[in-house]
Amino acid sequence: MKVKDLPKNHPARIKRRKRIAVLTFAFIMLAALLAPFSGFLLSGQFIGSAVAQEKSADSNPRADYWRAVKGGVGGYSAIKGPETGVLTQSAGVDWANFRRGPIVKYAPWAIAGMFLVILLYHLLHGKNKLTHRPSGVMVKRWSWFERLVHWTTAISFIVLAVTGMSMLLGRTLLLPLFGGLQGGKAAYAAWAQFSIQLHNVMGPVLSVGIVLMIVMWIWHNFPSKGDWGWIKAGGGIIGDKHPSAGRMNFGEKIWFWIIATFGMAVVITGLLMVAPSFPSLQALLPIPITRGMMQDANVWHVVAGIIWMTVAIGHIYIGTAGTEGAFQGMSTGYVSAEWAEQHHNLWFYKMRRQGKVARHPDRYARGHGAIRQRSL
Ligand code: HEM
Repeated sequence: MKVKDLPKNHPARIKRRKRIAVLTFAFIMLAALLAPFSGFLLSGQFIGSAVAQEKSADSNPRADYWRAVKGGVGGYSAIKGPETGVLTQSAGVDWANFRRGPIVKYAPWAIAGMFLVILLYHLLHGKNKLTHRPSGVMVKRWSWFERLVHWTTAISFIVLAVTGMSMLLGRTLLLPLFGGLQGGKAAYAAWAQFSIQLHNVMGPVLSVGIVLMIVMWIWHNFPSKGDWGWIKAGGGIIGDKHPSAGRMNFGEKIWFWIIATFGMAVVITGLLMVAPSFPSLQALLPIPITRGMMQDANVWHVVAGIIWMTVAIGHIYIGTAGTEGAFQGMSTGYVSAEWAEQHHNLWFYKMRRQGKVARHPDRYARGHGAIRQRSL
């Protein structure tokens, strides 16, 4: 009999579902890493005309025009609105230098440093394993809606991180990787152009996801009595005993508040940057957006985004290779009773008192064989 013909709750089918979840995740991560190289495929369609135009023209009329404006040629604008009379704004040069300077210089180090810290931690400490093998008793941890919001936000976050970093570090890192100005210019330009479009489309998806996460989970993330014990035990790194925790431990609460603050900062500054391109959006804002405001928004967007990405690498590690059984929870909705008691004992005891450990034996739980009230 083939695995797919077995009943839904059969252990072999559950194992297969878990394998599919892990492979899908690995595929998404690999696709994210390789995505910029699609510039070589895109270059024919997106940028072909622009490059051809640039090659064929001896001088670029647009460049000549702006050179003249910078040289002090006066202009007239029939458009009425904030700053329409300002043809060049010199603060923009300071902004561009800051963006090209310290931001581009330090951002890659923050991210590379985080990877290094995680690698060292993993080599020295290893995976946070279950101390008791799962017996088949399960507890529901995440509803289908929570998982939908989590994974939609996570995927949009990865797309935004890859496209955002491509815009920020493209010239410094991607262009040389693509073959430099000689060989890789068209491919890089195509990917950069595609990145902007994709970034603008996925931004609103992430924004909705973040707002939903805040509304759904804020109630579980306020400080509580057990947090101090968790901090003193370094989340379980110091000493042999796993510290007590409720539905969210202190580390997860920090992650939540980073999303609620840095995440919202990224969303709001992103909105400020795109609003001038969409008059109906601009009309909703109480004041008109000036170039200076967009430059400030850009700096905050990039700085908050990099801090958020750096911490997210830690979250992704803890949710996959770092903690046995955590990924299963977010992919199937259920965790083993042993996992729940080890990592979130206070929440687990509450669930058990409410009869939710045995009374919610859903298909995943039944598949493990016995649904029995164990003395845990
Ligand atoms: C892309 C890879 C990601 C993986 C593999 C992953 C994995 C997980 C897992 C396994 C949990 C459950 C932990 C538990 O049961 O205690 C979780 C919770 C959570 N994740 Fe993710 N996650 C990812 C990305 C993200 C992103 C990008 C965000 C936000 C932008 C995010 C926000 C959250 C939040 C808010 C929680 C709830 C727990 C808390 O408050 O910390 N995750 N994640």
